[in-house]
Amino acid sequence: MKIIHLSDPHIFTDKIHGIDPVDRFKKALDHINTNHNNADLFVITGDITDQGDKESYQLFQEIVDSINLPKNLAPKLIIGNHDNRKIFIDTFSFTKLDNNGFIQYFIDIEDNKFIFLDTNLEGTDQGHFCNQRQQWLINKLEEGLEKNIYLFMHHNPLPTGHIKSDGLGLQQIKEFKKILIKYKEVIKHIFFGHQHITTSGKYLGITFSSPRSTWSPLIPNFSETFRLGTAYTDPNYNVILLQKDSLIVHSEDFLKAHVDWLDYTIK
Ligand SMILES: [Fe+2]
Ligand SMILES: [Fe+2]
Repeated sequence: MKIIHLSDPHIFTDKIHGIDPVDRFKKALDHINTNHNNADLFVITGDITDQGDKESYQLFQEIVDSINLPKNLAPKLIIGNHDNRKIFIDTFSFTKLDNNGFIQYFIDIEDNKFIFLDTNLEGTDQGHFCNQRQQWLINKLEEGLEKNIYLFMHHNPLPTGHIKSDGLGLQQIKEFKKILIKYKEVIKHIFFGHQHITTSGKYLGITFSSPRSTWSPLIPNFSETFRLGTAYTDPNYNVILLQKDSLIVHSEDFLKAHVDWLDYTIK
């Protein structure tokens, strides 16, 4: 299986911090369509828009429609702190909700269960995962004990060593940790976004990864003094190869797409 994981396009009708999020998102989609149109799953992990306004969601949809992606690349969406749940639901008729009205759903493909979580709380940039959402996740994990389970969420569920940004991660770390420990045999990987950095590692025995934003990529911030503004580095998205005995995360720096291919014969 091939999974495309893109995050934080922050679609807006104008430039933000001097960068055009629309232009970059279009370039990312073009790159995906050209190079990975055989992918089985395409997920965008939140901060779909920068302001959570209707116009930006409609613009997002127009961009996606303009690229003519094949059916298998119809993006699965979750929301981040910059999104607005109500306007998202009003705009996208395909939105799936859990019983409590959160944008949480799952997809089963072969032996795999992909679970999409909602960590948005209106009025804050921090991630929240209330009791209702926790219980929904526990129910889905219980239903998927025979499967390989993959979680997609916007906020980082663990501090990632970004001293000035970790406070904006998931606030119910303790509760989430309890769930991960209980189901660590079936949860195979956690995909998230939010910090706009390429990161990967292992947490409680479960591997995780995140791509940078397609709009404003950041670098690891180990500064105790400053928060990051803009980093003039490359945006990217991740390509995950899911095989029987491995999970490989590649990064695609889609702005630097030109390649001089050489004829190559293995000797
Ligand atoms: Fe973001
Ligand atoms: Fe975010």
